[in-house]
Amino acid sequence: MSHGNSISSNFGLADAASSTPEERALVKRLNAGVIAMEKSLEANLHFGDAHTDTIARYLFEAGGKRVRPLLAMITAEFGDSTRPEIILGAQVVELIHLATLYHDDVMDDADLRRGVPTTHTVWSNSVAIITGDLLLARASSLASNLGDDMVKLHAATFERLCLGQLHETTGPQKSADRIVHYLQVLADKTGSLIASSAVVGLMTSGAPREFFEPLREYGEKIGVAFQIIDDVLDLAGGETGKEKGNDIRNGVATLPILLARAADDAESKSLVDRIDDAIAANDDTTFDALIDELRASRHTTETIARAKQWATEAVDALSILPDGLPKQALVRFASRVIDRTT
Ligand code: IPE
Ligand code: IPE
Ligand code: MG
Ligand code: MG
Repeated sequence: MSHGNSISSNFGLADAASSTPEERALVKRLNAGVIAMEKSLEANLHFGDAHTDTIARYLFEAGGKRVRPLLAMITAEFGDSTRPEIILGAQVVELIHLATLYHDDVMDDADLRRGVPTTHTVWSNSVAIITGDLLLARASSLASNLGDDMVKLHAATFERLCLGQLHETTGPQKSADRIVHYLQVLADKTGSLIASSAVVGLMTSGAPREFFEPLREYGEKIGVAFQIIDDVLDLAGGETGKEKGNDIRNGVATLPILLARAADDAESKSLVDRIDDAIAANDDTTFDALIDELRASRHTTETIARAKQWATEAVDALSILPDGLPKQALVRFASRVIDRTT
C-alpha cells in the first residue's frame, strides 16, 4: 500500500543525475517522513469494528500522492526536522484531505477516486458522508494533541474549505465575474489546506515565526495552481484515477470552459454549445470527443499558462526565506505541481 517510496521522486525532488549528497539526504529524509506519516495514520485509523474500519480506511489504502504531508515535511526543514510532532501534524492534514474526498465524491457524483470505485458507489451516500465526518472527528482529536494554535488553524482552514465547496455548489451571484468566483473557490477549497500544510510543518518544527506568512502565501498560491491543473487533468481522466470530463458533466465550470464561454469567436461559441447539447442529450460518446476538443483548444493552453503564473507568484513569495535546500525543494515542488500528470 505504501506510496511513500515514490512520493518525493514523483514530485521531482529527487533528480538522481544532478543531485548532490545533501540533496539526496534531504530526499531520503522526506521519504522517511512520508512513510512514517503513513504508518502512524494506518495505526490511528481504527474505530472499533472491522466493518467501519474497512470503510474508513478504504480511500487511505487506495493510495494518493500525499502532497500535503510532503509539503509539511519540506517546510519542517526550516525548523528542527527531527521533532515527532511533525509526523502528527502531517497526519492531520492528510486526514482532513481524506475526509473531504469522501464528501467531494458524493457532491460531484464521481465514480472513481484514486483508481478505485468511490465510497458512495461501493456503500451509499449516507455511509460516505458520515464516514467523512468520522475522519474529520479523528483529525480534530489528533490535532488537539498539538495544542490550541493547531486546533485553531485547522478550524479556520476547514471553515474556508467548506466555504469553497459551498460557493462552488451555489455558483456565482448574477452580477459576479465567473472567473473571479472560480479563483476564489479554488483558493478556499484547495489553497486553504495546502497553505495550512506548509504552516503545520513550520509550527511543529518550531521554525521562526517570520517564515509563517511567506510560506502560507506560497502554499495558498501553489494550491490554486494545483487545482487549476487538477481541473485540466479532469479533461483527460486516465492516469489520474478519475473519470474523464466529470467536472463539466456535473456542471462544475472550470477554467478551460469558463475561458471558452467568455471568448466571442465562432469556434469557441460552437464548442460550448455542442458541449451543452451533448450533456443535455446524455450523449457520452459525443461528450467525450468534445472534451478532447476542449483539451486541445487554446483555452486549455491559456489555463495552463495561468496555473504557471500562480506557481511563479508562489515562488516569488519565498524571496525572504534563506537560500538553501529546503527553498530549492519548494521551487521544484512548484514546478512539479504544474508538470504533473496524476
Ligand atoms: C484531490 O487532491 C483533490 C484536490 C484538491 C484537487 P490530490 O490530487 O492531492 O489527491 P490525492 O491525495 O493524490 O488522491
Ligand atoms: C476537490 O475538488 C476539493 C476538495 C476535496 C476540497 P475537486 O472536486 O475538483 O477534486 P477532484 O478532481 O474530485 O479530486
Ligand atoms: Mg471532485
Ligand atoms: Mg469537487
